Amino acid sequence: MTYLVLLFAFSSGGINLFAQQHPRQEVDFNKGWKFALGDQPGWSATDFNDKSWRTLNLPHDWSIEGKFDQKHPATVGGGALPGGTGWYRKQFQVPATAKGKYIAIDFDGVYRNSEVWINGHYLGKRPNGYIAFRYELTKYLRYGGLNTIAVKVDNAQQPNSRWYSGSGIYRDVKLITLNPIHVAQWGSYVTTPEVSNQSVKVDVALQVNSGTNKQTAVLKTIVLDADKKVLATNTQQVQLGTGQPINTTLLIKNPIRWSVDHPYLYTVQSQILVNGKLLDRYDTPLGIRSFSFNSHKGFTLNGKAMKIRGVCMHHDLGALGAAFNLRAAERQLEILKSMGVNGIRTSHNPPAKALLELCDKMGFIVMDEAFDMWEKKKSEFDYHLDWAKWHKKDLEDQILRDRNHPSVMMWSVGNEIPEQGGTGADTSGRVITRSLVAIVKSLDKTRPITTGNNNVEANNNLVLSGALDLIGYNYNHDKWKDFHKTYPGQKLIASETTSALQTRGSYDMKSDSARIWPVRWDLPLLTGNADFSCSAYDNCYTPWGSSHEQTLQAFENNPAVSGMFVWTGFDYLGEPTPYTWPARSSYFGIMDLAGFPKDVYHLYKSAWTDKPVLHILPHWNWKAGQEIDVISYYSQADEAELYLNGVSQGKKSKQGQDMKVMWRLTYAPGELKAVSRKAGKIVLEKIIRTAGAPAKLELIADRSTIKADGKDLSFVTVRVLDKDGNLIPNADQLISFKLEGEAEIAAVDNGSPISHESFQANQRKAFNGLALAIIKAGEKASDVTLTASSVGLQSATVAIQLKP
Ligand code: GAL
Repeated sequence: MTYLVLLFAFSSGGINLFAQQHPRQEVDFNKGWKFALGDQPGWSATDFNDKSWRTLNLPHDWSIEGKFDQKHPATVGGGALPGGTGWYRKQFQVPATAKGKYIAIDFDGVYRNSEVWINGHYLGKRPNGYIAFRYELTKYLRYGGLNTIAVKVDNAQQPNSRWYSGSGIYRDVKLITLNPIHVAQWGSYVTTPEVSNQSVKVDVALQVNSGTNKQTAVLKTIVLDADKKVLATNTQQVQLGTGQPINTTLLIKNPIRWSVDHPYLYTVQSQILVNGKLLDRYDTPLGIRSFSFNSHKGFTLNGKAMKIRGVCMHHDLGALGAAFNLRAAERQLEILKSMGVNGIRTSHNPPAKALLELCDKMGFIVMDEAFDMWEKKKSEFDYHLDWAKWHKKDLEDQILRDRNHPSVMMWSVGNEIPEQGGTGADTSGRVITRSLVAIVKSLDKTRPITTGNNNVEANNNLVLSGALDLIGYNYNHDKWKDFHKTYPGQKLIASETTSALQTRGSYDMKSDSARIWPVRWDLPLLTGNADFSCSAYDNCYTPWGSSHEQTLQAFENNPAVSGMFVWTGFDYLGEPTPYTWPARSSYFGIMDLAGFPKDVYHLYKSAWTDKPVLHILPHWNWKAGQEIDVISYYSQADEAELYLNGVSQGKKSKQGQDMKVMWRLTYAPGELKAVSRKAGKIVLEKIIRTAGAPAKLELIADRSTIKADGKDLSFVTVRVLDKDGNLIPNADQLISFKLEGEAEIAAVDNGSPISHESFQANQRKAFNGLALAIIKAGEKASDVTLTASSVGLQSATVAIQLKP
């Protein structure tokens, strides 16, 4: 299908932005912005001279470029990077031929309090830092001339978040050019009310903008399969300008279901034609799935019972900050998928649009969350200040943007909302819950609505509203068994669990004695480690949380719990519980901030995948004679046997609900070997050896061929090794990077939650043997080499190819 409709050029610095032949032009508008920190009168003006400002490409987060300092309260506990105020400006040509078009700018998220001007004309303000919004520019543009867009971003009032938010235009921006008759923003709503193996009914409700134009048009609706083959078509005469959506129904025979293992996507294409001319073409992704929650049996997808094995994720991408990057998000999801995760909770805000697209394509079930607070605040300058004026609009926009994503299967309208209340007279929580549920249901009735509750008693006002479809428990896994007594007839999801604390590669003996840090949620940490570490034995957790194993056991053995979302998949910036400064990022992640798995990654992988796992911990560099606990996570085997320097330390198999086995050994240097066996046959072997003196570096790129598109990333792991290739478990050498070719070092990290080194540098100290360099492609095909060196060690290089 080719449609030669129009061809005109928008240019920005001589680059032709629009060389497409499609009636709908949604153009990446991220390049070539000017940026300055601060705020001066006149910065919105068209004739303001911004030549001295820095030039950059969006998405951008200025906080991540700042210096860690105790003075920057991204949250009560930390965050430690600056907020402030910043301005972005961009000049662009609009050709005279664009006169008569509808032109708009789409922002997918600006943190926060953004205000936008076009050619000096004020377009509006959006306080919410996580919401997508559009401004129409048509009336204010200079056709055949230069135009200036200016955006003020105000994140100065702190604290306004309990976690690191980032600052700036940190998600994608697009310039939208359409015919005056076009599908409205988020204007299609596709549902599948009847799904069977034989057929599926596809209902499409399409909102078409035509101004005051009341003419008739032809609406052609097509369903395409994943190979773009046409499966069904509907053509109808429609009346435009009624303000009402146009409804179409199509049937697909023998539908292929969308599932977490096989995320099959169809496309619904809506074409609007007037007098035979194609005026708009709008694609909506479609995943055909049926799902339900049952109060006793849990979750069912396409008729099959399954558990949602999920993690909570904040939006930052570690060393890259909040600036959205598709590959960085995809890498996180790939790592999570490899350990058997099939669910994501976008705690505690709407995610980037592109994250949902990834979840659609990769097969994740999403709990799409709206708010961390309502009227009552959690921090002084947070969204409670904007609640009255904005929450309805923000919630509606979230639902409209996200309701066609097959991955989204639940809406959460709040996390640990103070209005849950208790026995007090204030029942505002009931009223607000009902009104939020009504807002969501007016736009989408196909998904249950929940909240994440830390009050799991019968007096929770959100539940007492009677409006929620699904009751979300945060923590309290020991109360799951009484759920039906507390909330008879209701359905349960563990919206947030665990909050265990770990530093990758740090171990506190004995492994079977728990450190509950702090001892009570409202008390400061009295003990703790001098190096601000938490033990990775899965024996350190918060008083409201549990070890990973405890919650996992309870979850896997209770069919009524439809899903769980571990707090958190990855470490995130801010909230450095149980410590405060100098700690500045979380300890909760199954992966550290750099994305390196902590040991419990293997626990989940052994429980949640059918790949054979054999992992042993800790490392094997201790003091002679020390008593060391060796733990093994294994799966697809009946037992594991451990050998120290060739001598068997005994066979062990998991007993009862145990998810690991443990040996207590007297340390002697040498070789520790584990062997797992099934019916006497070896399944896997795993060896770790005592490392000698640091001798060399090793570089491993997660991908050695990337796209030369100015965005793609290669994540390069640095390992500090002895001469025989054993990882030095406590190595902390300073590593310097040299990059040759058309790429840049976008960020460096090592996963330490207390490092105050800048993420934007060409050097980084190793942390417990590892460091990370994130290489970002330039726009020219070339061969790139990264060299890592460190005093006294043999350097290493890795080659990365940039392909067009
Ligand atoms: C929860 C909260 C999360 C995070 C977590 C840390 O209560 O919902 O946002 O703060 O605690 O354990």
